[in-house]
Amino acid sequence: MGRLEHKALRKQLVATARAMNACGINQGSSGNLSVRVPDGLLITPTSLPYDVMEPEDIVAMDMAGGHVGRHRPSSEWRFHRDILARRDDIDAVLHCHATYATTLAVHERGIPPFHYMTAVAGGPDIRCARYATFGTQALSDAVLEAMEGRTACLMAHHGLVVGAKTLDKALWLAIEVETLAKMYVHALAIGEPSCLSEAEMARVSEQMRRMSYGQAPDLEQAQPSARDLRGPVPKSA
Ligand code: 13P
Repeated sequence: MGRLEHKALRKQLVATARAMNACGINQGSSGNLSVRVPDGLLITPTSLPYDVMEPEDIVAMDMAGGHVGRHRPSSEWRFHRDILARRDDIDAVLHCHATYATTLAVHERGIPPFHYMTAVAGGPDIRCARYATFGTQALSDAVLEAMEGRTACLMAHHGLVVGAKTLDKALWLAIEVETLAKMYVHALAIGEPSCLSEAEMARVSEQMRRMSYGQAPDLEQAQPSARDLRGPVPKSA
């Protein structure tokens, strides 16, 4: 894989990494981002501050873990590679140390269905992956298990991971999960909130699926046809 291929995706990785810090869901050089390319993945380098990161600093990896570039890949390349290898519904992976998600994760707690939006990550709740040392295969295994049937999970004593089809959607989802975590932590301050039932969360998931809720509208479906724009045909007098 050439060192400087996929220029637009490299630029987008850097922009998304900076946006992740600017919007407050991450800080310093914590966190990492990757995106699928035909011959593997592109991933942020380890320990390089995002404000000095350039598209040329992004590391190209193959699915066997080989890499090309002037830096070493993120220490978390294993879970990025493993999510992309195992999940064809995910093409971009974002990991961050968001404050409220991590507040729950240090208590090894996930986010239960206390709010209908918890369905945004693909299931009724958002699980917390069991603890394993950063950068290990054990952590990757734990993250994949907690993301079963989901596009996000918290990571015990660590942070948050989300996956989506694009980097923009991954950032959007991470912000949603962090917002839910913040609401849940605030709600816990006055006691354990009640949760929505399994049946209600199934209705919410179905409603989200039908409405492409939280997704950019599918223009073909959203665009009204000439026939839809017409009012009812008046009855002839
Ligand atoms: P890297 O700088 O190696 O990506 O590590 C940051 C991190 O958050 C580890 O979990």
